[in-house]
Amino acid sequence: MGFEQAWLSYQKRETCGVVKNIDRIYASLQNPVIRSGAEELQAAFAGIIGNEPVLYADSEYEPGEGTIRLLVKEGLKAEGYHLFEEKGEITVEAPDANGILYGVFELIRHLQLGKNLNGKDITKEPVMPLRMLNHWDNMDGSIERGYSGNSFFFEDNQILVNDRIVTYARLLASAGINATVINNVNVKDSATWLITDRYFEDLSRFSQILGDYGIKLFLSLNYAAPMELGELNSADPLDEKVKSWWKHKMEEVFRAVPNLGGFLIKADSEGRPGPFTYNRTHADGANMLAEAVEPYGGLIIWRCFVYNCRQDWRDRKTDRARSGYDNFIGLDGSFRDNVILQIKNGPMDFQVREPVHPLFGGLTRTNQMLEVQIAQEYTGQQRHVCYLIPMFKEVLAFRTYVKETDDTVADIVSGKTFQQTRCGMAAVANTGNDDNWTGHDLAAANLYGFGRLAFEPELTAEEIAAEWITLTYGTDETVKEELLFILMNSWPAYEKYTAPLGIGWMVNPNYHYGPNVDGYEYDRWGTYHRADHQGIGVDRSHSGTGYAALYREPNARIYNAPETCPEELLLFFHHMPYNYKLRSGKTILQYIYDTHFEGVELVDEMVSRFEKLKGKLPDQVYERAMERFLHQKKHSREWRDQINTYFYRKTGIPDDRGRTIY
Ligand code: GCU
Repeated sequence: MGFEQAWLSYQKRETCGVVKNIDRIYASLQNPVIRSGAEELQAAFAGIIGNEPVLYADSEYEPGEGTIRLLVKEGLKAEGYHLFEEKGEITVEAPDANGILYGVFELIRHLQLGKNLNGKDITKEPVMPLRMLNHWDNMDGSIERGYSGNSFFFEDNQILVNDRIVTYARLLASAGINATVINNVNVKDSATWLITDRYFEDLSRFSQILGDYGIKLFLSLNYAAPMELGELNSADPLDEKVKSWWKHKMEEVFRAVPNLGGFLIKADSEGRPGPFTYNRTHADGANMLAEAVEPYGGLIIWRCFVYNCRQDWRDRKTDRARSGYDNFIGLDGSFRDNVILQIKNGPMDFQVREPVHPLFGGLTRTNQMLEVQIAQEYTGQQRHVCYLIPMFKEVLAFRTYVKETDDTVADIVSGKTFQQTRCGMAAVANTGNDDNWTGHDLAAANLYGFGRLAFEPELTAEEIAAEWITLTYGTDETVKEELLFILMNSWPAYEKYTAPLGIGWMVNPNYHYGPNVDGYEYDRWGTYHRADHQGIGVDRSHSGTGYAALYREPNARIYNAPETCPEELLLFFHHMPYNYKLRSGKTILQYIYDTHFEGVELVDEMVSRFEKLKGKLPDQVYERAMERFLHQKKHSREWRDQINTYFYRKTGIPDDRGRTIY
């Protein structure tokens, strides 16, 4: 399969000012990351302006018009940059090579956006230290929850090292991403062997390519590796033999694979092995590994997605939403310095709407990272358009009240709240080997947007979307206006025509696609809506599971009462009668009917706006996306009708506007 250049297709554009005359670039070309930046500039100038500047070593530098200089210079925070123009000369100054690379991409964005650089003086520092992708790619080439083809990292249990990896690295770096985990968190079979000499050679070549673009390679680990690789009969973290096995293993891996950042671990979760087997805690498990990677500056990223996935639906006491908190809060302060806890944005599992995970604001003495999912597992699987940056913005802006100020999720995971440097944001990736990388062409906005958001969380979702549109499709105003409308309305639309008011799920089990209101109602996964003929929702107040009390005040109080609970989360926190009146004066039932009709109308509007772009977007892009839009049109009706019909049949109460419900 071929692959496209996404937002890095350097098409000829109208440019202005100083950039037209650039013909020399000076840089420390012996540094591979700076060299990547300098070569990227060459390619960008050649494509966008039609004139390829010549590269020179920095030792030959002579000031003057028509020059770009990439200069390593102390002053800013790690990976920051200072980009400025003076007398016809452009300078990118940064304290390290990654900063230079990010400054270069800022410069290139200016070219692509047709912005004038004359007199510009821009200083930026990344807000999140770690800006990471988590790929769920399996070594047989499949991708868990992958919606854009197969893996381009693995095939037939081999690692692929090719041009596509270079373009992948460029795409990530251009969005500011500096770390990536290439294998699935569910580590099985061959993937367990990634830390053995079976794969060292390929892994090392692969890792070097990423390293040339300032991206650290991470791997997901199998906690039971000491046993599965055939050597020990235990994985007990306090067993000396186990500890020493990992120490030797890590020494071997870090020696063989350059540019390795560390490991991601899913333990004691959904059937994966972990320290619970030995009556040890997650801190015991994580710390044992952290000690082993410490000498090499390695990090252990430990996931908090731990819950009982064998629940009885009859049991109303056990609450899956509590489990992450209950499993980890008691361990706060007991993790080593090079451990980071990775926490999903919400307490359940990437639903279209969830409250923020209560561990944010709960933990005060532990490094923390936010995990979001740009693979649209529960948000339309890249067949429906769903631009998720607005959702991530809400999560980041959430006030935890862990302190009086600097207490938002963004503050916590950027290290501001607790003065931490090992923290950041990870996204479960949405890429695959489809030509356009993300299946739905518009889903690339989530990939680009995630990186930009982690670098500069203060950017608005609109700014990021607008930037992505112009980088990818050029400066046509109609294209920008219509795509911006579509992207910005896509998450609200999806929320309207799927499960209502924060209750989530209602999808086909296992695949997580398409409506199935009771699909998970009598299952073992802890994901229930508890609808009967009078009402719906899960009581998580003090009279129910007590989940609401896991938040700090005033959040706990606000969530605890239906009158103050944000309405978009009402059914997440409370079991409510259908005739309960929302603030608008509408009953819950009427609200469900209305939003489902509205969601479909929004989709129709999105599609008719997209139709206006025929001839303005490349034909192939238009055709590919249109096919998905037409599916979304039909499928959103399926959602609307199944949900509305379900509630109509439960209650016998018709829509007060008499629209068709079956
Ligand atoms: C979800 C998803 C799984 C995945 C899990 C995880 O439950 O459906 O495929 O393994 O999340 O985050 O570990």
